[in-house]
Amino acid sequence: MDMATSTSLLAMMLVFMWELDNLSSLPLSVEKADEDVIVSSPKGAFTAGFSPVGENAYCFAIWFSQPQKTVVWMANRDQPVNGKRSTLSLLKTGNLVLSDAGQFQVWSTNTLSSDPLQLHLFDNGNLVLRLQNNKSSVLWQSFDFPTDTLLPAQLLTRFTKLVSSRSEGNHSSGFYKLFFDNDNVFRLLYEGPQVSSVYWPDPWLVSNNVGSGNGRSTYNSSRFAVLDELGKFGASDHFSYKTIDYGLLLQRRLTLDHDGNVRVYSRGNGEENWSITGQFKSQPCFIHGICGPNSICAYEQAIGRKCTCLEGYSWIDSQDWTLGCKPNFQPTCDNKTEYRFVSYKEVDFYGYDYGSSFSNYTYKQCEDLCLSLCECMGFQYSFAAVNGLFWCYPKTQLLNGHHSPGFTGQIFLRLPKNNVQENHIQNNGGLVCSRNAEKLLQRPYVKGKENGSVKFMLWFAIGLGGFEVVCIFMVWFFLFRSSNRLVSVDQQGYVLAAATGFRRYTYSELKQATKGFSEEIGRGAGGTVYKGVLSDNRVAAIKKLHEFADQGESEFLTEVSIIGRLNHMNLIGMWGFCVEGKHRMLVYEYMENGSLAHNLPSNSLDWSKRYNIAVGMARGLAYLHEECLEWILHCDIKPQNILLDSDYQPKVADFGLSKPLNRNNPNNSSFSRIRGTRGYMAPEWVFNMQITSKVDVYSYGIVVLEMITGRSPMMGIQVTESHNERLATWVREKRRNAPQGARWVEQIVDPTLGSDYNVKQMEILAKVALECVEEEKDVRPSMSQVVERLQSHEHDS
Ligand SMILES: *[C@@H]1O[C@H](CO)[C@@H](O)[C@H](O)[C@H]1NC(C)=O
Ligand SMILES: *[C@@H]1O[C@H](CO)[C@@H](O)[C@H](O)[C@H]1NC(C)=O
Ligand SMILES: *[C@@H]1O[C@H](CO)[C@@H](O)[C@H](O)[C@H]1NC(C)=O
Ligand SMILES: *[C@@H]1O[C@H](CO)[C@@H](O)[C@H](O)[C@H]1NC(C)=O
Ligand SMILES: *[C@@H]1O[C@H](CO)[C@@H](O)[C@H](O)[C@H]1NC(C)=O
Ligand SMILES: *[C@@H]1O[C@H](CO)[C@@H](O)[C@H](O)[C@H]1NC(C)=O
Repeated sequence: MDMATSTSLLAMMLVFMWELDNLSSLPLSVEKADEDVIVSSPKGAFTAGFSPVGENAYCFAIWFSQPQKTVVWMANRDQPVNGKRSTLSLLKTGNLVLSDAGQFQVWSTNTLSSDPLQLHLFDNGNLVLRLQNNKSSVLWQSFDFPTDTLLPAQLLTRFTKLVSSRSEGNHSSGFYKLFFDNDNVFRLLYEGPQVSSVYWPDPWLVSNNVGSGNGRSTYNSSRFAVLDELGKFGASDHFSYKTIDYGLLLQRRLTLDHDGNVRVYSRGNGEENWSITGQFKSQPCFIHGICGPNSICAYEQAIGRKCTCLEGYSWIDSQDWTLGCKPNFQPTCDNKTEYRFVSYKEVDFYGYDYGSSFSNYTYKQCEDLCLSLCECMGFQYSFAAVNGLFWCYPKTQLLNGHHSPGFTGQIFLRLPKNNVQENHIQNNGGLVCSRNAEKLLQRPYVKGKENGSVKFMLWFAIGLGGFEVVCIFMVWFFLFRSSNRLVSVDQQGYVLAAATGFRRYTYSELKQATKGFSEEIGRGAGGTVYKGVLSDNRVAAIKKLHEFADQGESEFLTEVSIIGRLNHMNLIGMWGFCVEGKHRMLVYEYMENGSLAHNLPSNSLDWSKRYNIAVGMARGLAYLHEECLEWILHCDIKPQNILLDSDYQPKVADFGLSKPLNRNNPNNSSFSRIRGTRGYMAPEWVFNMQITSKVDVYSYGIVVLEMITGRSPMMGIQVTESHNERLATWVREKRRNAPQGARWVEQIVDPTLGSDYNVKQMEILAKVALECVEEEKDVRPSMSQVVERLQSHEHDS
């Protein structure tokens, strides 16, 4: 829609009530006004007025006026009014009323007063209806009726909730809600046309009380949440969140976006655009309902989120991917139809499993089980490292589908055999989640009055019904589902964090497990690591932190819960933690084969292991950088922090307990001191330049060069007796000076490998590693680009 048409609002009757002395002169018209504005806040930060939402459709709204209009509140988002003859007026009874084309009431404040009233827009964005002669007497305020945005100092309470908008271009109520639940926990709910489910806090974290699971408390019934001016968000259930640019800033807002994520946006002085300085959900594809039924969500940094229909399915509405895909075949339940199964790797559909659990199933048993069930649309078959068994999950609905790199389970989609006529190529193009095309909104002039009270009763009944559904769902979810989740979690790849219970340990438990901290297996700047055996016989690595001893308990818990949520097969799994008095400890899975540093000199890594380690490390880091909060950086990648499990699968360790990075203001960030290890540190540290995820890319490149050459960057390379050269420079020189026709990698290969390596893989790995260690950070590839390039050669022989 053309924004310029908003000036056609000249014809719209607006009632101007700005500090009116004599209310009997109402309604006033502002037909001569050249803007659709009613009031500005004293300093001009906010404006209230009519805002266009479609062709000839307007909402009464409040927006940030400068430097770019951003709507923060709407009175009638679900019922826009006509551009002509619609009015906002203050009735003599004290009711502020929005009427469509002068005919019927669309919205009102439901206030009642015989004293003169005044409408005032504050500089914090709050529109207040108050008594003219007593300014502290507030009859109504917009802060009590938020839509999708919370402004600093605006309380979200037990009586209010945020509701997302339908899409980027459509401001009417969408499917996502942020609210305080009956058990006092602050949650995000997807409430779609067919199903609803809570997706934050992570539903597979079983318990909600501090110290177990997600660190929330059910015991504080005050139920309020607020974003402060500095950028800290806190809720009464102990959830707290600090933006990466914590500090004084011009403008901030917290918005439940149409894609179901809550983001904090900030805008500094003179900045035109908002920047995202925090978000609640780290993985965009784990938001329920985001791609609709029968489709798969995938996230790539370059293009964002993308939805794709499953084979045999096609889009219901190719403009609106939240509606999902419908089968191209007639689902039947006779025993004449023959079926085939199509497999999808690294894909999961969350929830909607048939029955309880089917463990120790062979693939054949699982397939037969699915075939025997009418409602089975496919199944997930996965291996759970925790108990060494294969699990079978027949799916009754294919919802919340997402691609999850590193996830070890597979989905087998059930399709009729005769449905091989392939129109899926055309359908599977995939929709990139760009701005949805706006649809024309029909706003015919409605004549006559509708029966207000009947309409109200109807809505009231629907409201009550909806509420019951939510309650029943919650009860079902938390009483019934909680025990099942224990089993189902591992389909998410969250084996360690949840299936075994991410938990808080007592100091005495860990003391006993480590036999009084007797077996030290590692020592670093942050703490000392001990081997221990937990009471359930699992072998664990227990890290006693020195650095965080003076950190407050809740801050520590917040950080631990962030790390606890990071789960990827190439990141070390954390089982729990201990915080007691001065003690701060982390409990990790124990890695049989120790660290890469320990394995490199001992000649235990053949070529395929080394290549596999390089790919796995890159996957783990790509996940840290891009799939979770994009600003989680490791900052200390080195062979000591790459651990190897019994199959020599690499797991990146020691991440997380670095405070989130302040991207906008690196000088004022938490990185007050240089992090990292000499030899692996990117030049940005030395030159005090902006720190980005590219510092990890650099360190990664050095580690890979070390794996290829067998030479440590710490030692330097003795070129002549007196001159040590850096590893990267040495490799570059070797490449430059390689004799014509010879394979240059032969010049640098670790002599202990002999000729026992794959030349093609060696070349690509060396090439990528050299790009990673470019001095100029912008020239270095991102971790996901590294993964892409390496995995295309994974199966070279
Ligand atoms: C103004 O209103 C406030 C809140 O309703 C009330 O507490 C106060 O007594 C009133 N002041 C006067 C002077 O009426
Ligand atoms: C509930 O939480 C709020 C905010 O964190 C806090 O001020 C209040 O004291 C808490 N109340 C109880 C009973 O713990
Ligand atoms: C703000 O965003 C717009 C649209 O994305 C872009 O064209 C413009 O360059 C941005 N302005 C600044 C100062 O970054
Ligand atoms: C199909 O199902 C019917 C009723 O359940 C059964 O009588 C019949 O034998 C089945 N046919 C086959 C081929 O399994
Ligand atoms: C799994 O099934 C096999 C064959 O039925 C059986 O021998 C084995 O004991 C089972 N394992 C477990 C852990 O139940
Ligand atoms: C916005 O979405 C609602 C609900 O899906 C729909 O009824 C309405 O027509 C949409 N409005 C526009 C302008 O597309």
